[in-house]
Amino acid sequence: MSIRRPQGTQDFLPRQTVYWQYMEKKIRDLCRVCGYEEIRTPVFEATELFQRGVGAATDIVNKEMFTFEDKGGRSLTLRPEGTASVARAYAENKLYGQTPPWKLYYLAPMFRHEKPQAGRFHQFHQFGAEALGTSDPLADAEIIWLAWTLGAKLGLKGLSLRLNSVGCPVCRPGHIAALSAFLRPLAGELCEDCRARLDKNPLRVLDCKKESCQKATANAPALPGSLCPDCREHFAAARSYLEAMDIPYQLDERLVRGLDYYCKTAFEILAPGLGAQNAVCGGGRYDGLVQEIGGPPSPGVGFALGLERLLGALAEQGAALPVSGPPCYVLATLGETARRRGAALAAELRAAGFTVLMDLQGRTLKSQLKLADRKQAAFTLILGEDELERGAALVRDMRTGEQREIPLAELARAMEDMT
Ligand code: HAM
Repeated sequence: MSIRRPQGTQDFLPRQTVYWQYMEKKIRDLCRVCGYEEIRTPVFEATELFQRGVGAATDIVNKEMFTFEDKGGRSLTLRPEGTASVARAYAENKLYGQTPPWKLYYLAPMFRHEKPQAGRFHQFHQFGAEALGTSDPLADAEIIWLAWTLGAKLGLKGLSLRLNSVGCPVCRPGHIAALSAFLRPLAGELCEDCRARLDKNPLRVLDCKKESCQKATANAPALPGSLCPDCREHFAAARSYLEAMDIPYQLDERLVRGLDYYCKTAFEILAPGLGAQNAVCGGGRYDGLVQEIGGPPSPGVGFALGLERLLGALAEQGAALPVSGPPCYVLATLGETARRRGAALAAELRAAGFTVLMDLQGRTLKSQLKLADRKQAAFTLILGEDELERGAALVRDMRTGEQREIPLAELARAMEDMT
């Protein structure tokens, strides 16, 4: 039996990676203009980082992590998300000691052992951005602006932004107590998962997608009603910045997010046409996370955007990304001497920045010309014994079929003019 790729993973072939590269370039350009710098952290971390950071009661830590032991018996986990790793790197490298805030971004694979389905993978990729060392509500708005603007820059239509404040350690316990008191008598109407959440994480009952749970919790006390003055003020300021930046949002009192580290601002961006997995982006503020994993108190806010879902949404909308690269030249040769000279010529032209392809299978001239068709080359450079003798190459414009001989010494300049 042939070996196949693991379940929930994908191969991205060149016809797809051009889109990834296009998207990644847009992301890097956008991060640059907002002053976000790239951070790269390990693909695996100590399991404890996620248990303490993401939260032992979350679905991610409970049942979705790829965890293994190294040879020394230490428990390691393939990162299911990037925020805990960035917070760890921030604390471990003492970035807090240098002038905050730190505005960091990553483009990286993540791993979650979720039931594979459309838009949900075991290995997927996130673009994440995190602003650490600031509790300024403008940072929340800037983070949301970044995620929102990327969608627009890629031409994604119909996005919606859901916004909520999930409070803080001062006001949330009171809310959880009120919510628990409301939910307990309704336990019989809740799904099995939500019954388990009643003890561990009652807030999560609010965003269960099951109809029975949504019905049972329709009149549950809403979070915004129990926010403390500090959270209320922070939320109002973040919203006013969003409004100043013309970012349309919908308040969603039931939005609680599935990771334990959130406080104050929480948000999601949904895209149409993706079925149940319609969240392309999720994020929020996490002022207690760095301290939770052993660092000094350091506020933070960020988001992560699922790149497979982003591309899926673009494909669903039939958005044509302009991914054409610079023109490609195929250098075809006839005879061994010409092939050797051709290899040197290709090296010179590539060093000058031209895309030059040569046949690597010793094929006939006719087949080499077919390569030019297959690669949609703009021009073919033909080097035979006769051309070599004259120190020239025959250049064929593949669009018009026009041919002309150009001295090798003038080739690079002529190619510059042609493109
Ligand atoms: P999250 O909501 O768990 O948040 O994930 C963010 C995004 O990653 C989702 O909206 C979705 O697009 C994508 N995603 C999640 N799981 C999968 C999967 N199994 N397959 C495909 N795509 C998936 C976080 O990860 C937080 N770290 C976000 C954050 C950053 N909060 C603050 N800073």
